[in-house]
Amino acid sequence: MIECQYSEAVARMNRPSRLALALSKSQEGPANIITLGWFMRTSIKPPMFAISVGLTRYSHELLAENRNFVLAIPSTNMAEITMKCGIHSGREINKIKAFKIKIRKGKLTDIPLLADAVANFECKTITQVRSGDHTIFVGEVKYSWQNQDEGLEQLLSIPMNDSRFEELMRKGGYSFGIIKGKK
Ligand SMILES: Cc1cc2nc3c(=O)[nH]c(=O)nc-3n(C[C@H](O)[C@H](O)[C@H](O)COP(=O)(O)O)c2cc1C
Repeated sequence: MIECQYSEAVARMNRPSRLALALSKSQEGPANIITLGWFMRTSIKPPMFAISVGLTRYSHELLAENRNFVLAIPSTNMAEITMKCGIHSGREINKIKAFKIKIRKGKLTDIPLLADAVANFECKTITQVRSGDHTIFVGEVKYSWQNQDEGLEQLLSIPMNDSRFEELMRKGGYSFGIIKGKK
């Protein structure tokens, strides 16, 4: 074990890592989608998810206002959408309209589900905690949804130029794909 920079040690973890999309909405406004790498399950009974959202994100405003969100797990059919929602802000564009994202009605609120996702979870925000330059929003899952296509694979954030993975999308420092042979 050798001591190194924080960034070097962090680069050694999360290969590959999961991705999520969180949908939030102001009262009148259109729903907005943010791409997240920082999310996790945090309780079994009741089921809960935590998401970590930067203070500067438009989604942060929406999540603080509307105490509900939808957490969608993107499929391999959503590589481009997942990238675009991670580099454009809802302050400037209506992502659902601009990127022609397919949505479905949920049951909890008027925040939609993502039709091409592997799974969607409708969450009610129970608590939030400031974590440096992010806020962790913790939501209790009220309704869960899965895609009818059981063979549909979850999209992963993958290391670049690694022959174990099939790359589906690359932009900037990000590469999305799947473990080879999975599709
Ligand atoms: C792969 C990937 C993972 C990301 N993970 C997070 C995250 O966990 N938390 C966060 O606040 N932003 C994350 N971002 C950045 C936001 O998705 C990005 O700033 C987005 O444009 C914010 O949209 P909004 O302003 O409409 O909320 C990630 C971006 C990418 C591409």
